[in-house]
Amino acid sequence: MNDYTQFEIPGVITIGEGEGGLQKLEVKIAEAEATIYLHGATVTRYDVAGQAILFCSRTSRYDRAKAIRGGVPLIFPWFGPHPNDATLPQHGFARTALWELIATEATERCATVILSLSASAETLALWPHDFVLTYTIHVGNDLEMTLDVVNRSDTPFTFDEALHTYLTVSDVQHICITGLENTEYYDKVDGFARKRQADSPVRLAGETDRLFIDTDANCRILDAARIDIEVAKSGSHSTVVWNPWEEKAEALADLSGGQWSGFVCVETVNAADNAIALEPGASHSMTAIIAPIAD
Ligand code: BG6
Repeated sequence: MNDYTQFEIPGVITIGEGEGGLQKLEVKIAEAEATIYLHGATVTRYDVAGQAILFCSRTSRYDRAKAIRGGVPLIFPWFGPHPNDATLPQHGFARTALWELIATEATERCATVILSLSASAETLALWPHDFVLTYTIHVGNDLEMTLDVVNRSDTPFTFDEALHTYLTVSDVQHICITGLENTEYYDKVDGFARKRQADSPVRLAGETDRLFIDTDANCRILDAARIDIEVAKSGSHSTVVWNPWEEKAEALADLSGGQWSGFVCVETVNAADNAIALEPGASHSMTAIIAPIAD
């Protein structure tokens, strides 16, 4: 484990050993608390006034080779299976890479953690481009996460990216999601058929895996039995809504045990038609802001 004690902020940010011996940061600021693993730069917990906003599976693995199941896995440089090599890891390599901690900061109401990942022999073997990712996480009354991608190669490259937020809900069958009305999507549970959401909120009634495209809209997860949550965003033109439903979730060791109905993923994404092309030296920034909605 790296010695990051210089980045600790007494009473606000501590660095220690988490599940599976993986290094993590614990953040406590005003009414908010968060846990951030350097493994995959995964925010696994964000609580406000004691309420869990993110969902993290109690059967998640914490293993250097696997993604953490829950919180906000960070997806780069391809979304889903690799487009032409099925042997490469689903959702790219960023969510299983060991990120470097480069800065922390705190004000009275907000704590900031900055992580970084650069091209290495390992990433070049999977994706032949030189890059730097900087991930800035602000923890406070909301959870603001910004991923900056810089192309350090001397040729252009194209990538997908996602902040794959798992959100806690009372029961996924009884929530609705606003913000995606009249928006086109690829329906991954119907052979990628291109469809259009009606002029009404999204409600889930079975396995759901939809990649909404050309949408900059903020979403709200409305939950009559719990707090409502907003997912605001910028620099993102796709939104994914995912829940595997009972049968598929129970088949996943890291999501089984009746947990499937307690979350919905509303992901801040650039993928498919909205993949990002970057010229040498250019950069791109994508932000997701997750917050409980005050009554
Ligand atoms: C979603 C994808 O974002 O992530 C789904 O749209 C996928 O197709 C899901 O099943 C979970 O992926 P994984 O690799 O974490 O099991």
